[in-house]
Amino acid sequence: MGRLENKIAVITGATSGIGEAVAKMYAKEGAKVVAIGRNEAKGAELIKDITDLGGDGIFVKCDLRNPEDITKVKDAAMDKYGRIDILFNAAGVLVHKPFLDQNMEDLNLIFETNFRAYVLNMQAFLPVMVEQGKGVIVNVASVSAVWPELNSYFYGSMKAAVTNLSRNVAKEFARKGIRINCILPGPINTNMTPDFIKTDKNAQQALIDAVGMVGRLGEPDDIAYAAVYLGSDESSFVTGIDIIVDGGVCISN
Ligand SMILES: NC(=O)c1ccc[n+]([C@@H]2O[C@H](COP(=O)([O-])OP(=O)(O)OC[C@H]3O[C@@H](n4cnc5c(N)ncnc54)[C@H](OP(=O)(O)O)[C@@H]3O)[C@@H](O)[C@H]2O)c1
Repeated sequence: MGRLENKIAVITGATSGIGEAVAKMYAKEGAKVVAIGRNEAKGAELIKDITDLGGDGIFVKCDLRNPEDITKVKDAAMDKYGRIDILFNAAGVLVHKPFLDQNMEDLNLIFETNFRAYVLNMQAFLPVMVEQGKGVIVNVASVSAVWPELNSYFYGSMKAAVTNLSRNVAKEFARKGIRINCILPGPINTNMTPDFIKTDKNAQQALIDAVGMVGRLGEPDDIAYAAVYLGSDESSFVTGIDIIVDGGVCISN
């Protein structure tokens, strides 16, 4: 019996990196997965991987910058499975450049993807969870919500907003059987990681030295382990918190 047996989990950002790892680990732990993303080929590949391993899931194409698409996701998930136990919000984008170079287009991209979509997803699925009397929301923020980081100003600000929103909404819904928590990853090896860090060992070591104490970049599964805990009934006494999974960024100088 898996740790998420028969739970229905909606996972945004499931076509890459952290969301993809979470989708696979959730399926391995017995959850049925509603995978969200824009990349249909990657979505189809993910569902094939999950079903090949005996799991169950569907892909729903959605541009999270488009509010109507989010309603379609909820309808598709409910039509297929009739309930939603876990909403895992992982989709995100990074704009990484000096403050004076960041423009309104960058701000809108970060705001709509990394904050507004989290709000709209929570507002779409919370009524379903209230009706069920039970549900879990996990929002992926970032260690940059709490730790100063050069060049990711709008990104870090919206990640801080996600942690604040999650904590406060958790307070409103705690007595309705709904738990809301955040995961704050440090540097994780995904498509979001700049290419030069992946290919240049010196640059990679410089990043590890600068931000992390554990001596390596994180892998998506490092986040998925925390995601399984927060999505499962093992964390039924846990709500309104941030779990930092950062390889020691917060204790480095
Ligand atoms: N990697 C890190 O070091 C790190 C550190 C801290 C926090 N995080 C956070 O972790 C989360 C996952 O990041 P990652 O590293 O896994 O990045 P990634 O590999 O680049 O994946 C990003 C995901 O977001 C989806 N996405 C982006 N814009 C979207 C949109 N408009 N509509 C629908 N889906 C959209 C992408 O889907 P499509 O390509 O299919 O559109 C993709 O699945 C993000 O919230 C990120 O901020 C990452």
